[in-house]
Parts: sequence; structure tokens; C-alpha cells
Amino acid sequence: LAPKWFQGKRVVLTAGPTYEPIDPVRVLTNLSSGKMGFALAEAFAMAGAEVTVIAGPTALPTPWGVTRVDVVTAQQMRSAAHEYAPSADLFVGVAAVADYRPETPQEHKIKKSASTLTLTLVKNPDILAEIAALPHGPLCVGFAAESRDLDHYAECKRREKGLSLVVGNLAQEALGQDETRVVLYDDFGRHPVPAGNKSEVAWAILAHLKRMISVRDEG
Ligand code: C5P
Repeated sequence: LAPKWFQGKRVVLTAGPTYEPIDPVRVLTNLSSGKMGFALAEAFAMAGAEVTVIAGPTALPTPWGVTRVDVVTAQQMRSAAHEYAPSADLFVGVAAVADYRPETPQEHKIKKSASTLTLTLVKNPDILAEIAALPHGPLCVGFAAESRDLDHYAECKRREKGLSLVVGNLAQEALGQDETRVVLYDDFGRHPVPAGNKSEVAWAILAHLKRMISVRDEG
């Protein structure tokens, strides 16, 4: 039986990729299966939390007891996050949000006539940083998938976005895989988690968060 560490807590997560339309048949996206976000959503629900997962396009089934809000673009994910996160205790940004979107999606399919094609991209809003900046907002957790210098980039991300915890992983060890290896970064430093499947790693993240919340509430 799972420990009810998060009984009575409201947890909102983002998961999966976003699709940014180029034209009616093409999108810009990131490689993300949604597996880590869904594994975390499932673990939080088993641990007694009231869980909402804001999911980008992914074929994964909704874990038992989890409320799912499907979105496609980063802007839709942002609206959903602003709707659900302010009343939550915890907000976990697991989604691989596209950093940029085409400025003007074409109404009709772009034809392959020219030998080069230039797309103008505009920056998407940083959903997690916005939620972390809310006064009286939830405790915020972010992910950092990097291809190198994980410690450096994860710690920068934690500071720049104002997060309590960052879960760092090397992209080559995580994307689309069932097994993953992560390092947790918080105010007290760096905490490597043993490699495992995404459910095992999700439970290790929950255990760490539970300790952080106890320290905060007792401190
Ligand atoms: O800056 P970077 O994209 O590497 O940060 C990753 C973290 O920030 C993840 O937790 C991701 O879900 C979140 N994020 C976001 N909105 C963005 C970009 C990233 O919520 N536009």
C-alpha cells in the first residue's frame, strides 16, 4: 500500500511536449514521451493527492485518479496552468515546452517550391517561471534536461526561475526511455537519485518533496 504522504494536497503538473503549428499539417515540437510527468502524476495520486495533469500531445493513458486537461500549444498550456496552479500546494513543470513558436502559423500547407524556407519564431512564455512568481503561489518544481554541464545549468535554472527544487537529468539518459537517472537540486545542494524506472524515480522525488515540506513546516 502506498504511503499517503500527500493526502489533502493539491498537485498540478504539466507533462509531455507542446506542438507549435507551422501550417495545418506541420508543427515544431520537442522530443518528450510524457512518461516522467505521468509517472509522477500517478505516484502523487497514489500518495493521496488531488492531482491535475495538464498534458501536451501524448498517447499515454491517464493514470487512475488523475484529472487530465489536454492541451496542444504552449499558450494553451499556460492558460490551463494559470487556471489550475494558483490554488495548488505544488506545481511541477515536467512538460518539454517548445521555447519558440512560429510567429504566424500559415492557414494553408506550405508548398515545397523555394530551395530554402525561413520561419520567424517568437519566444513562448516560461510557464513555470510565471507560476513560481505568483504571490502566495504553490511550491514549484522544475525539470532540467541537459545534454552537458547538468549541475551548472540545473542550479542556474533553479535560481533564475525561483524554484524550490529542480530535477536534473541528462537528455540522452531520459528521453523516451523507461529507465532514467536524475539528480535533485535544492537549497541544501545536490542529491543524486539511484537509476530506476520512471515510477521508482517518481517515488524518490515524492519522498524528497515530503521531507522538504516537513522541514519547511517544522522550521
Ligand atoms: O528553461 P528550460 O526550458 O530548460 O526549463 C525547463 C523547465 O521549465 C521544465 O520544468 C519545464 O516544464 C519548464 N518550462 C516551462 N515553460 C517554458 C519552458 C520551460 O514551464 N516555456
